[in-house]
Amino acid sequence: MKLISTKICKTSDIGVNDILFGGSMLAWIDEAGGIMASSVCCTSNMVTLKIEEVLFKEPVKVKQQIRIYGKVDRIGKTSISLWVEARRADLKKQTEVVVCSTKMVFVHIDEQGKPIPIQTC
Ligand SMILES: CC(C)(COP(=O)(O)OP(=O)(O)OC[C@H]1O[C@@H](n2cnc3c(N)ncnc32)[C@H](O)[C@@H]1OP(=O)(O)O)[C@@H](O)C(=O)NCCC(=O)NCCS
Repeated sequence: MKLISTKICKTSDIGVNDILFGGSMLAWIDEAGGIMASSVCCTSNMVTLKIEEVLFKEPVKVKQQIRIYGKVDRIGKTSISLWVEARRADLKKQTEVVVCSTKMVFVHIDEQGKPIPIQTC
């Protein structure tokens, strides 16, 4: 998988149980997936169509670093499907643990918001 972005869990990202709010993680994953889809398809005109089952496997606490990785699953006519994984980094041990994973679909759209064919670079 390819590293797309890195996040730090801030106090403003915390929910009611002193761990990362799931909605914050969803926003990070959505953004990272969009960045990867746009890079692969050479356009910023990509919209999120679908986020499949999202598994929040491990909690994330304040100050922990989260690295978001992606891998292309398939490229269709107008859509691209990606595997996306967020990993919590242990900076001392130099290890990573998967905290969240999902599969996402993005669609290439025109100025009217209608699907148009993808052209990879
Ligand atoms: C994305 C959007 C433009 C697609 O329009 P649409 O008319 O539904 O698209 P189509 O039915 O022509 O399908 C477009 C592509 O999505 C794929 N697709 C459609 N439904 C799908 C589904 N349930 N799962 C996976 N792929 C799907 C189609 O197979 C097609 O891909 P392909 O050309 O590679 O085969 C439209 O649904 C939209 O604007 N959605 C809102 C997007 C948005 O606001 N995102 C931000 C999140 S709030």
